[in-house]
Amino acid sequence: MKQVTNTVRFVLDGRIVEAVGVRRTTTVLDHLREELRRTGTKEGCAEGDCGACVVMVGELNAQGNGIDYVPVNSCIQLLPSLNGKSVKTVESLKNPDGTLHPVQKEMIDCHGSQCGFCTPGIVMSLVNLVQKNDSPSRLQITDALSGNLCRCTGYKPIIDSTQKACQHKAQLKVQDAADVPLLKKIAPSQSPTITLYGEILLQPVLRTRKGNEFVSPATLAEVADYLLKHPQTTLLAGSTEIGLQVNKQFTRPEHIMYLGNVVELRRVSEDAQAWRIGAMVSLEQVLDLWRDVYPDFAEVLRRFGSPPIRSTATLAGNIANGSPIGDSMPCLMALGATLALRRSDKIRHVPLDQFYTGQKQNVLQPGEFIQAVVCPKPQPGQVFRAHKVSKRFEQDISATCAAISYQLKGGRLSGVRLAYNGLAPSPCRAPQLEAVLEGRTPGEVTAAALDAAIAQCFTARDGLRATWAYRSLVARNLVLDFIQEPFTQEA
Ligand SMILES: Cc1cc2nc3c(=O)[nH]c(=O)nc-3n(C[C@H](O)[C@H](O)[C@H](O)COP(=O)(O)OP(=O)(O)OC[C@H]3O[C@@H](n4cnc5c(N)ncnc54)[C@H](O)[C@@H]3O)c2cc1C
Ligand code: FES
Ligand code: FES
Repeated sequence: MKQVTNTVRFVLDGRIVEAVGVRRTTTVLDHLREELRRTGTKEGCAEGDCGACVVMVGELNAQGNGIDYVPVNSCIQLLPSLNGKSVKTVESLKNPDGTLHPVQKEMIDCHGSQCGFCTPGIVMSLVNLVQKNDSPSRLQITDALSGNLCRCTGYKPIIDSTQKACQHKAQLKVQDAADVPLLKKIAPSQSPTITLYGEILLQPVLRTRKGNEFVSPATLAEVADYLLKHPQTTLLAGSTEIGLQVNKQFTRPEHIMYLGNVVELRRVSEDAQAWRIGAMVSLEQVLDLWRDVYPDFAEVLRRFGSPPIRSTATLAGNIANGSPIGDSMPCLMALGATLALRRSDKIRHVPLDQFYTGQKQNVLQPGEFIQAVVCPKPQPGQVFRAHKVSKRFEQDISATCAAISYQLKGGRLSGVRLAYNGLAPSPCRAPQLEAVLEGRTPGEVTAAALDAAIAQCFTARDGLRATWAYRSLVARNLVLDFIQEPFTQEA
């Protein structure tokens, strides 16, 4: 398929790369390896799981005088979404005098590399970590590595090498002074083009002869206008679902709209009652926001994928995708979150627990999109608990994830909201279980009453990840755990 318009521009080690004639679904990994011969970046799984393809993607910081980096799985990121950004690969780390970055040098000295296939991805995850944190704890290092699989080393030498590398603090930052002015030069316009007739003209990043295109608007008005004209458009947020559809199911959407350049969608705003999380705020940012406010939610997010997944993945993408085992939804439903849905210039608010109409079905109208997720702030005395049960602790999909919110009034459970994933065609609340809890003291709640309510609330079905017997047992035991702890504290 021949491309007829436009070029993807990004910065790579002090130069602007112009990628001409690429397909709208070309991945960053394929372009790096096949066109730019940056073959240090490896392909293992091509689905965001192994980390062999991790690179750092940079954007100008808020002051415009430096670059903020995030680690990404280049195998599932589409190249046109790199337009206006910078990228660092393992080859970028070598200094002009040929010496290596301290993380690379210590990986050699500590025997952190054996067959070497995973090593470039591991190095990039660790170099990304030490850009912001030059004294990481062991837990922070293992967290940073949770999306990097190594079959050979057993990880200890890798962790040791990171700690040793951090003794060379002055050499940890990547060399990027030359990239800053180039990023300013290729920065996409932040205002829409309006024709003489007042129509919004959205210039695509790529368009093919057939009229297929990849667009990257800068404003909400452009998003809304384009979606009305092309309601079949595939919205692209963090690409951690779409990238898999492209690689594994070979989907080739005719129109793709990347939302990452819309400043309003990247903001979190708040008032006394709630946070409004823009649809392009990454899960890593949400984790930071709620680390102290909703620690259980933050822990669910810490176990959501891995840092390269969370650095691009969004709440809106998780919700819109609507997987039965999506992890953010039970937490958000228990907290009473609503969605700000926009179509044209109209916004309606839909409670998240009324968003799904079936498996991967929802109430979005053609041309409508999620603008923000509105999540209430905690009330005095509110208890929020959540826990994800999965076979592996990190980088794994839920057998079930449960979340609950309630208050204890005179020792009795009040205002109970309980939600699960993994038990029904979409994440949902469990009204029959809520009824068992509401108005009772924790001591009055019995396992038998919860089991009966689970049987009423859900249709028993075995799944690939767990049997129904296991899931329903876990669903009941999590509730017992969630309500016992504050009771003990109050007593
Ligand atoms: C390795 C790996 C690990 C993962 N681990 C987990 C996990 O632990 N828990 C979990 O729940 N999920 C997990 N996922 C799934 C995925 O990361 C999440 O669903 C993620 O939140 C999707 O967000 P995104 O921004 O990347 O969405 P995208 O891939 O960009 O989009 C997903 C869907 O949402 C639509 N969409 C995006 N934004 C909007 C919007 N604003 N309005 C309307 N529609 C929109 C897209 O068109 C698409 O249909 C994992 C995925 C991978 C590859
Ligand atoms: S190749 Fe495995 S995460 Fe990208
Ligand atoms: S060194 Fe062989 S997979 Fe890590």
